Amino acid sequence: MSWVRVADLADLGPGAARRVDVGEHRVAVFRVDDDVYAIGDRCTHAEASLSEGELEDTEIECPLHGAMFDITTGEALSLPATRAVPSYRAEVRDGAIFLQLETT
Ligand code: FES
Repeated sequence: MSWVRVADLADLGPGAARRVDVGEHRVAVFRVDDDVYAIGDRCTHAEASLSEGELEDTEIECPLHGAMFDITTGEALSLPATRAVPSYRAEVRDGAIFLQLETT
């Protein structure tokens, strides 16, 4: 599976998130310091956009009902979400963010 360039690292400040759409994938990309992480953007509870949530370290709080997800794995950490979102490989190369859109 190939890598897709989705943004410049400079466009995403530390602690920030952004939604990117690549084909049928709706992905939330997060920057923590100089590391980037990517998970499915659609909350598994009622499909809110996780990229609009509150990021705390490597946990994102869904903006709609407050479920927490681990952005390093996609795992649902608290109710009302019970199912993980997909997790994708993300890398920074030459100042740009690349995603591999095969779930890990
Ligand atoms: S839509 Fe995310 S917790 Fe309900």
